[in-house]
Amino acid sequence: MLEVDGVMTTYGGIVAVRNVSLRVPRGRIVALIGGNGAGKTTVLNTICGVCTPREGHIRLNGESLTGVPTHRIARHGVLLVPEGRQILGPLSVRENLELGRLARGRRTGAFATDIAGVFKMFPRLEERAAQIAGSLSAVGSGPAPCPVASARCWPWGAR
Ligand SMILES: Nc1ncnc2c1ncn2[C@@H]1O[C@H](COP(=O)(O)OP(=O)(O)OP(=O)(O)O)[C@@H](O)[C@H]1O
Ligand SMILES: [Mg+2]
Repeated sequence: MLEVDGVMTTYGGIVAVRNVSLRVPRGRIVALIGGNGAGKTTVLNTICGVCTPREGHIRLNGESLTGVPTHRIARHGVLLVPEGRQILGPLSVRENLELGRLARGRRTGAFATDIAGVFKMFPRLEERAAQIAGSLSAVGSGPAPCPVASARCWPWGAR
């Protein structure tokens, strides 16, 4: 269970969101809906540690993630598929995925075995595994999340 409890996040002196609380039980999908500027990105960035809340708490299975750096939060499997591409353009698709695996803290086992599961879910990425990610003009253009960015958040052998 991911819990967001009474969170307030500011940018400088500007309050972006206040008193935000939500629960994401294990195995459930929760959508955060709101108008432009309502604070969706800020809440997600706060959960992932990109922003630090001025008030409130973030917990995962009872353990506090408040103030924990993003790279450590990622190891708990709390990962953000960012808006836009935000992939490492000069690297290949495979290398982008491998970095996602490392960021998740997965260092044991064969990458080839792990990535087979990713390619089952994202078959077009297998065709393009060796391609330089920044040249994927036909994939992930426009506002939809880039499939490489989505696949990078694969659980990589986590429970
Ligand atoms: N870097 C920033 N500096 C100052 N204010 C910001 C910054 N980023 C967002 N804000 C403000 O914080 C509030 C919440 O913005 P946020 O981007 O989280 O909303 P959003 O729901 O994701 O919007 P959108 O639907 O446009 O993506 C808005 O008032 C916005 O102007
Ligand atoms: Mg946003």
